[in-house]
Amino acid sequence: MRMLDIILKKRNGGELTSDEIDFFVREYVAGRIPDYQASALLMAIYFQGMTSRETADLTLAMAYSGETVDLSPIPGIKVDKHSTGGVGDTTTLVVAPLVAACGVPVAKMSGRGLEHTGGTIDKLESIPGFNPFQSIGDFIRIVKEVGLAVVGQTENLVPADKKLYALRDVTGTVEHKSLIASSVMSKKIAAGADAIVLDVKAGSGAFMESVEDAFELAQEMVNVGTRVGRSTTAVITDMSQPLGMAVGNALEVKEAIEILKGERAGALKEVSLLLGAYMLYTAGCCRTVEQGREMVEEALNSGRGAQKLKEMIRAQGGDERVVDDSSLLPVAKEVIPINARQEGYIYSLDARSVGQAARLLGAGRSTKEDRIDHRVGIVLYKRVGERVEKGDTLAEFYVTREDNLQEAIDTFNRGIIIGDQPPQLRPLVYGVVTREGVERW
Ligand code: URA
Ligand code: CA
Repeated sequence: MRMLDIILKKRNGGELTSDEIDFFVREYVAGRIPDYQASALLMAIYFQGMTSRETADLTLAMAYSGETVDLSPIPGIKVDKHSTGGVGDTTTLVVAPLVAACGVPVAKMSGRGLEHTGGTIDKLESIPGFNPFQSIGDFIRIVKEVGLAVVGQTENLVPADKKLYALRDVTGTVEHKSLIASSVMSKKIAAGADAIVLDVKAGSGAFMESVEDAFELAQEMVNVGTRVGRSTTAVITDMSQPLGMAVGNALEVKEAIEILKGERAGALKEVSLLLGAYMLYTAGCCRTVEQGREMVEEALNSGRGAQKLKEMIRAQGGDERVVDDSSLLPVAKEVIPINARQEGYIYSLDARSVGQAARLLGAGRSTKEDRIDHRVGIVLYKRVGERVEKGDTLAEFYVTREDNLQEAIDTFNRGIIIGDQPPQLRPLVYGVVTREGVERW
């Protein structure tokens, strides 16, 4: 088999066989296919697409390209969740403890931030002492003891995605549904959970901007999960404005804790409760989604979710007192208000612009070598649709350095549109995709 023939076949619109896909993944991971040929194939896939069968084959070839996690020593149905990436998207820190508090083991492997989006591992590292990098043995032990662990991927998990993702990031081939689906699902399959709930984002801050594309991506992922016997549900949620009011690592942890303690409501809480309900439902722990919703609400209102987060932080070496006293989190001392330059209604609070502004402040990386500053970020005071007067505070920037500050402010301001009339509001949730089909809300 020759890589050149595989590239030509895809370039010309052909359908690759399982053997051809296996060959590509195996030989690329082994270093026997050069990046330029892999890049050419990715670009051919980007333009010609892949069938669901090809996408499933690519996912499986990737999933088994390295070590996989066997969660069977943990009793019960293990559930995992994954977001395709967003801004102010801190649902994992809210929902994972809630679901675990309902008695369903949550074994979650998370990633770091990509482009303008934040990553759970980076957020958790803002908790003093917290160690997201556990051996697989410790990961399983903590899930058994606490019912919950959130860890970074081990070095050897899905090496094919590590290599392909880095290549896609620099070859303009991130935003393709078969490539995203295989990247996400290969990691979920290798990480071993029986049930998977996907939060597929749609909107300016998401990798799939249109709602239609997000539904198609969700269908691809649910198809693959179902094919390999993992009970999979995808919820399609809005990412045109940030989900939470905080964007930046320690600030997001603080917001998640406030939600778990019942001190705060809003879109992040809503989406977290919904995802929690679907996690319980997909894991078969309740008969209806509504029942699942009641269970996670009870876990929140009783404080058992906040308690579970504490237990997880302690088990992973962190200072669990942050849950009772958020002043123990590292937050920048210097705070700069951003004020409305005119009166009217907020039309747009563009998630991508806010994410990019936070990244410029140091909350994310611009190169692989960048170090994140956990203390910095943006706290929003308004959401789309709200009325503002000239001079009202729209947001506060938490900063530790001045060098990119003006660019961050300009980037943020470019994403804000204030108009005379109230805008048409986008729904928070567009629908759900399950094995049974697509449900549009
Ligand atoms: N998240 C992933 O893990 N992979 C992608 O391709 C996009 C988002
Ligand atoms: Ca991109």
